[in-house]
Amino acid sequence: MISNRQLFLQFVAQTSDMPAMLEIEKAEGIWLFSPDGKKYADLISGVSVSNIGHNNPSVNRAVKHQIDRYMHLMVYGEYIQVPQVQLARLLAENLPVSLNCTYFVNSGSEAVEGAMKLSKRYTGRPEIIAFKNGYHGSTQGALSVLGDESFKNPFRPLIPGVSLLQFNNFDDLNRITEHVACVIVEPIQAEAGVRMPEDGFLNELRNKCRVTGSLLVFDEIQVGFGRTGTLFAFQDYGIEPDILALAKSLGGGLPLGAFIASRELLDVFKTDPALGHITTFGGHPVSCAAGIASLEVLLQKGLIENVREKEQLFRKNLIHPLIKEIRGKGLLLAVELGDTEKTKKMIRKSMDNGIILDSFLFCLTAFRISPPLTITEEEIKEICERLIEIMNVLTE
Ligand SMILES: Cc1ncc(COP(=O)(O)O)c(C=O)c1O
Repeated sequence: MISNRQLFLQFVAQTSDMPAMLEIEKAEGIWLFSPDGKKYADLISGVSVSNIGHNNPSVNRAVKHQIDRYMHLMVYGEYIQVPQVQLARLLAENLPVSLNCTYFVNSGSEAVEGAMKLSKRYTGRPEIIAFKNGYHGSTQGALSVLGDESFKNPFRPLIPGVSLLQFNNFDDLNRITEHVACVIVEPIQAEAGVRMPEDGFLNELRNKCRVTGSLLVFDEIQVGFGRTGTLFAFQDYGIEPDILALAKSLGGGLPLGAFIASRELLDVFKTDPALGHITTFGGHPVSCAAGIASLEVLLQKGLIENVREKEQLFRKNLIHPLIKEIRGKGLLLAVELGDTEKTKKMIRKSMDNGIILDSFLFCLTAFRISPPLTITEEEIKEICERLIEIMNVLTE
């Protein structure tokens, strides 16, 4: 009989020559279980999606409840769909008043596309600024603001008028002018290998955008929903973006994205042309139902409160000569080994030993630690011990 592995390679389009090729039968909390009875600790949360852990009963209940009522009814923006309305209200209740209106889409890339279109339409300006080593998605607009030439070049021409600045370079911010519709930035650059903003950098960026009238777009698709120890990463810096792009954990495990701004901003989509930004499945009722349940669990179970303590536990227990530094905040950490081959081996050996790690798109010398926020202290200690043992073997 042909195995699922063979079918995967034969019929499913591949993204690289080295897929992880893990087959999973069931997932629970931070654990994934394969059909051959192996158990894996998920230290990457499906890339910052499963923040409240896998197979959460409240999310499952909400999904089943919604499926029994209705799934797709009509394209986005026409009918009053209660899960959508309630998720938009819950988000507004947890965001500043300037971010009180949500446009729902299906993915992170689409949230970025929407934010870029909204900025151009609102300001009437042609240019967009982004940052080197930033990642914003794979569609053509999102790719245009991605900060790595090797990913972009084969797909040119992309959208014109995009300039890339150096993250944390204060002088570069002078290139933001009155021609710039928006500046898009990850407040913490995740795929760059978790690069933190230097003190005052985001504040200076905020100031510069205010002075030039350019809109500031924060891509919190990866860092949002408690991952860095606050519900949204920007809350730690005493500033507010004009547009907030969300996805990944927003849908509680189902596909959902959003770009959030003030009503005044988003109202420009209503006219000249009407229907200038539309989507069939954006804000799918089942995804929104899962999103509400997931956000309620995150807030009501206090999952964000001890994220920083858990970070410290990782830092305290991950001390080894192989580790050059640990970057990041909360449960978004990059463990820098300073060597691509060693990092690859570490990821492979950990997988063989039941721990799922990953590297970063733009940083192959570090591995990622971004487990579900539900990970317990005991689990952290046990996993760190096992990681240290693997590093010992690698240094033998
Ligand atoms: C910061 C950031 N922005 C945008 C995206 C794109 O999201 P999606 O893959 O849902 O299109 C990602 C995905 O990894 C991301 O990490």
